[in-house]
Order: sequence, then C-alpha cells, then structure tokens
Amino acid sequence: MPDDLPWWASTVIYQVYPRSFADSNGDGIGDLPGIIGHLDHLVDLGVETLWVSPFFDSPQHDVGYDVRNFRDVAPEYGTLDDAQALIDEAHGKGLKVMFDLVLNHTSEDHPWFVESRSSRDNPKADWYVWADGYRGRGGQPKPPNNWRSELQLPRAWQWSEEREQWYLATFLWFQPDLNWRNPELRAEMFDMIRMWLGRGVDGFRLDIFGSIMHDEALRDNDPKPTFMNGMPRLQTPSRTVNTDENFAVAGDLRAVCDEFEGDDRVLIGEVFGPPSTLRRYIEDQSHPGLHLVFLFEFLSAPYSAKRYRTLIEGFEHEFPAPLVPTYVVENHDRARSLSRMGGDLARARVMAALLCTLRGVPTLYMGQEIGMENTYIPLADANDPIPSVVARRLPEWLNKKLPERLNRDEVRTPMQWTAEPGAGFTDPGVPPWLPIHENHRTRNVATERDDPGSLLNWYRDLLALRKATPALQVGSLDLATDVPDDAIRFERTLDGTTVAVVANLGDRSLVVPATNAVLGGRTAAALLVSDPGVTIADHLVDLPPNTAAVISIT
Ligand code: NOJ
Repeated sequence: MPDDLPWWASTVIYQVYPRSFADSNGDGIGDLPGIIGHLDHLVDLGVETLWVSPFFDSPQHDVGYDVRNFRDVAPEYGTLDDAQALIDEAHGKGLKVMFDLVLNHTSEDHPWFVESRSSRDNPKADWYVWADGYRGRGGQPKPPNNWRSELQLPRAWQWSEEREQWYLATFLWFQPDLNWRNPELRAEMFDMIRMWLGRGVDGFRLDIFGSIMHDEALRDNDPKPTFMNGMPRLQTPSRTVNTDENFAVAGDLRAVCDEFEGDDRVLIGEVFGPPSTLRRYIEDQSHPGLHLVFLFEFLSAPYSAKRYRTLIEGFEHEFPAPLVPTYVVENHDRARSLSRMGGDLARARVMAALLCTLRGVPTLYMGQEIGMENTYIPLADANDPIPSVVARRLPEWLNKKLPERLNRDEVRTPMQWTAEPGAGFTDPGVPPWLPIHENHRTRNVATERDDPGSLLNWYRDLLALRKATPALQVGSLDLATDVPDDAIRFERTLDGTTVAVVANLGDRSLVVPATNAVLGGRTAAALLVSDPGVTIADHLVDLPPNTAAVISIT
C-alpha cells in the first residue's frame, strides 16, 4: 500500500442505526452497550469504519436527527461513558469510529430554540433563521419567499406566534434551521465538534449538509420542477441547496478537524446534486473542504449494467485519484437494496461484488450483508413522521406499489442476529420498537455464518480479498466500454498488479474476456466467483445470469 495515503482513502464504512442494532438491557430499543457487544461482527465481516447514526439527547421525533443536546447521550441509548467506551473499544479492535453530526438544525425542544423563540431580543434570538414575511389580505401572515422544505410538499417556513415571525425548517417542522451566519452559534458548534474529536472520534458524517447556508437575501427559488439524485423536486433549489457559502463552511469545518493530527480525521457529506457540484465540497477554489461525499445514485438506479457503467464513468470523471468516490447502495432512509432488486439474492451478490471492488470507499448499511429486506408497515402505523407530511391521504394499495418507502420504518427494523424470537436483537418476549421481519428465522447472522453460500460469507470473502489486495483498495480503475450491454468489466491496477472484475447483470449467459489487454503469456485466474457456475477457460469468462467474478491477471 502506498504509505502516503490517509486511512479513509481505502476504508470500508458500516452504518449502524443505534435504535435497531442491538438492545443490551431488554427495553426493546437498541443502545450503545449493544453496539459495543457486537463489534466483533464488524471485525469478522471485514469492515473498517463504524458510522453510528445520532445517539445524542433527543425527543426522538425523527429518531435522533432532532438533537436536543449535541454534547450528551439520549438516556435510552446509554451515557457519555458508554459513548467513550464505544470509541475506545472500537479502536481496540482496529476499527475507526465516525459519529453523525446534524449541523443544519436542532429539535424544536433544544433549549437554544426555546430561548430563541421566546422573543426577538434574547441572547439566542439570532441563533436560528428568522424572517418577518409579510401580511396577506385579511392580515394573514405569509412566508418571506417560495422555499419548499426538502420533503417538497410542505413549505420551508413555520410560523411562530411568540415572535410573530417565520422560522426556517428545511426538513421537518420540528427541526428549526440553525443560523450559521451567527458567530456565537458557529463558535459553539465548532467547540462541540472539538469535544468529540478530543474524545477520539475519527470523523463525522454530516447530515443534510448541502442545506446549511441559504441565500442571505432570501430570494425565491427557481419555481421550475427538477430531479436531483433521481428524486423529483417541485422547484429548483438554487437559493437553498449547494450555495457558494455551503462550500465555504466545508472549508471551516475542515480547519477544525485539521487542528487534530492533520489529515487523520474525516468529514463525509450527506449532500445531493450532480457529481460536478458535489466535488466542490471537497475542493473549492483550491482550499480543502470535506474529505468525502456520499454518491447516492445507486440508491435510485435500476439494476442495469448500462446504467451502472454510465454512473461509474461519471464518478471516475468527476472524482479522479487522489479524490475518492464513496459508494452507497443502501441506508436508513431508502428502500433496502435487496427489495429494490426483487428479492433476488444472485443480484445482491453482483451488487456486493461491484460495491467492494470499485475504486473508492464502499458504505454498507447494517443488515445489507445478510440480505435484510423492507418490512412492510402501513402508513397509519408509522413511527416515522414523514408519512404524516407527505402521504396523509395516500391509499395503502398505492403505497405498497411505490418503489421507494415513504414510511422509513420499513428499512429500519431490528437487525437480525439469530433465528430466535427477538432475533437476538432483544430478549424473547420483549416488544421491539419496530417489528422484526418474519424472515429472520432463516435470514440472520448466526445462520448465515454457518452457510458457506450465504450472502454474509460472500461479503466476508470480498472484503477479505479487498483487504489483502492493495490494487482493489487504491489501484486505478479502467472501465471497459466495449462489452455486451448486460456486462460490466473493469480492471484495478497498482504497481503492476492487475485484478479484473466482470459481471453479468442480464438474464442470459454471457462470455466476456477477462481483460482488454492482450494477455501475452499472462494468465487469468478466478479469485472469487459469485456462483459456482462461473468458469474461466483461457481468458474467457463464462458468466451465467446475474453473476460476477474477481480475477487475477498475472
Ligand atoms: C437525513 C437523514 O439521513 C434523515 O434520516 C433525517 O431524517 C434527515 N436528514 C433530517 O435530519
């Protein structure tokens, strides 16, 4: 491995949603000691960085993404000592630890907002984004502009009777946006970040980071509907998302991180937009910003070789080395990848092969490695607040047909550890906070660990090979374009070592050459195949439908 590369350039991230990972005290809710007790699963799987979704003090109306105190732990998850133990124990096992920072907003119950809302002239009056708006006919208060929330249907402004003013809430109504133009707020947030860095955390995932700064003059967004990352938008968020000032905040945060051992701490942005825009978070006008940005396109893309090739080509173009693309195929907000792929485990194996061998940082969401699927939960039973905003009158038969889950509970059900009642997540007989998928009896960590053909063991094999093969971690990527429509082939090369990856995403068998280059005395030998039916004769790879192979070219 080249010595000058920072650890995060070749890491593999595993996202834990703390409420659903492991319940150590039998209350049906996952917690920090539960995560600590299952760190060996991460080590055994071969991931290298643990990302923990928010566990800070919160009324939990958006499952922790509505923070009430950034410096403390929600009691149902544990204590500050548990958070410290999590960092230390993970480090002891060779894992890096990333926490989840919600810098854009707080809970409406945060004492800062309670104070800010209480009058127009209190010490925190300016810590949130307040605006007068205007009065319509009959004296009705009207918001200052046309901005819509990131959920599209609701507007981005909420009325406060106390101040007789509007406050900005980019996401849900109970998540008021912080005012990053206020120097005191900024200083407090940077100090809070220093506190966690001082406790040893290796970096942060930055929630909804592209919305932190908005147009200061509050000018209207362009009313033209558009798409962003495959999702429809009712207006073009030209004044609210990815503004120039956002890129500047990225640089300021980087400077705070760099106070701690230079390049060692990592910032990963949850940002949306075309790759050419997202790149500016990493490097804008040549000053460094975030280290990585999630690339979410695979969450919406149909399972198609042609589509994937186009995406990979685009990411390689916008994030050439030493920049590092960060691939995501699943997270706590979007449909489970296996469900998107029709429950077809062969396809999930192909997806795993691509994710673990593409150039960049792969991100896995807990349960992806065992093939967890969406657990259908009707909108009326949702704990997630989103259905109450965007789907109040949507009939259930239609909801069921949607490719994306409006009720995010469906992708957040408890981790399936064992076949027992409670799935090893909680004690048998304890009602879990969300229902456990009935397929846990066969699809769970314990059962899959003993099955050499399981998805879990396929991920383990892929990640072990990646760890043992510097070319797969940091080698260059050469994507072939002269392949059959249903095929993907690329080569990873470092210091003269070449590893080829070929996949057939179609429903018919394909024969694909292992490499573009003339073999000239070299040989192609399978390192890993997703299915025993994959064969290599001479340099030709015979791929049954929905299979992949990782091949050494020597
Ligand atoms: C993005 C997070 O991933 C999501 O779960 C959350 O609801 C919103 N940001 C608001 O913080």
